[in-house]
Amino acid sequence: MSIEIPEGLTELLQSFTVEVLRNQPRDLLEFALQYFTQLKDSETKEASFGNDQNSAPRPGKAVNFIDEAMQIDSENGEEEDDDDEEFVAPVINRFIRRASVCAEAFNPDEDDDEDKEPWVTHPKTDEQRQRLQEACRDILLFKNLDPEEMSQVLDAIFEKFCTEGEHIIDQDDDGDNFYVIESGTYNIFVMVDGAEKLVGSYDNRGSFGELALMYNTPRAATIIATSPGALWCLDRLTFRRIIVKNNAKKRRLYEAFIETLPLLTSLELSERMKVVDVISTRVYTDSQQIIAQGDLADCFYIVESGQVRINMKRSRTKKDQEEEEMEIATCSRGQYFGELALVTNKPRAASAYAVGSVKCLVMDVKAFERLLGPCMDIMKRNIANYEEQLVALFGSSTEIEQQSA
Ligand code: CMP
Ligand code: CMP
Repeated sequence: MSIEIPEGLTELLQSFTVEVLRNQPRDLLEFALQYFTQLKDSETKEASFGNDQNSAPRPGKAVNFIDEAMQIDSENGEEEDDDDEEFVAPVINRFIRRASVCAEAFNPDEDDDEDKEPWVTHPKTDEQRQRLQEACRDILLFKNLDPEEMSQVLDAIFEKFCTEGEHIIDQDDDGDNFYVIESGTYNIFVMVDGAEKLVGSYDNRGSFGELALMYNTPRAATIIATSPGALWCLDRLTFRRIIVKNNAKKRRLYEAFIETLPLLTSLELSERMKVVDVISTRVYTDSQQIIAQGDLADCFYIVESGQVRINMKRSRTKKDQEEEEMEIATCSRGQYFGELALVTNKPRAASAYAVGSVKCLVMDVKAFERLLGPCMDIMKRNIANYEEQLVALFGSSTEIEQQSA
């Protein structure tokens, strides 16, 4: 007796099996119900669009099946599945088509199931809270939070002490916490061609561990304490609820502006969006100093609105002890400044002041190094122009020559 296998059955079962294996649902029947209901829905929508059966599926009709799948888990009181790549449900025409996986893994606006979880709170003494506030003051990811969000973050953070040699993060692990440094020194290692390479370090300030939580990716580096230290830890759920959701708002707000910046043209769209994720905004009043010449640098700036005056102090002659501060440039909307000290690893070469009220996008040095590598050529070309600028103004460019040597 020959049994006829209906057309599409193999592909249908294969697609379903793949999703089961990826999601490992506790309630297989419920999962199957959701899966096939959604599949049917997309078929119905397909039909109502009057789509040509032979045409390729349109990306706009993608169904985020994983979000539904995660809900099943959370209803069972389980931690949600973190491997939530957005899955484009197969659209059934006559044949089952397994569609592609979207580039952006996480849409926090659709992550409502997380809102059902209770808020995390770790009680703190007044002394701890004060130290915590101090440590969080310069953390850019916290800068755009409103007071209520900030207070939720402070409530959720807990303190962890670490010993010299302790691995705080191991590359390729899943992300559990975001860390703010209270004290201690830490080395950053990244695997390059199978070997662990020291790529940087933290010295008693800063933060790390945001990437895996933001983009649902494995840890991108290993972080090892090189002294005893203390860290403030923000759990993954609170980080996603507050920081990642906030970033989604920020993306919408800054997407268009970021697209217009000539500096960032060499970045891919997804990289430009990562830039948005790490920037914070700072507002300055008329004449307020943004950068002081000679200071150590930890930030890079892009002007969002208003004008920024760049002044440089120089002696008139080599023998002259008195220094005179002269205007050497102005930056307006879309222009950047504060890159030179980060590129050359030297103190600030000039001062920057707000002219009228000014709003800047600010990026910290670690994000600058990580994200703006592809923009280095443009920056270096402009740094070469600084030298000409100074020669025209002062007759020599000794400062810059020394800086970029
Ligand atoms: P995450 O990937 O979650 O965990 C490792 C962290 O190391 C990472 O987030 C960043 O916060 C931090 N880090 C610092 N420098 C680098 C780097 N060059 N590459 C990747 N991660 C880095
Ligand atoms: P940085 O040295 O980090 O801080 C001062 C900034 O002024 C510098 O980076 C440049 O971005 C900016 N700048 C503009 N014109 C000049 C110039 N001619 N020389 C040095 N810095 C300049």
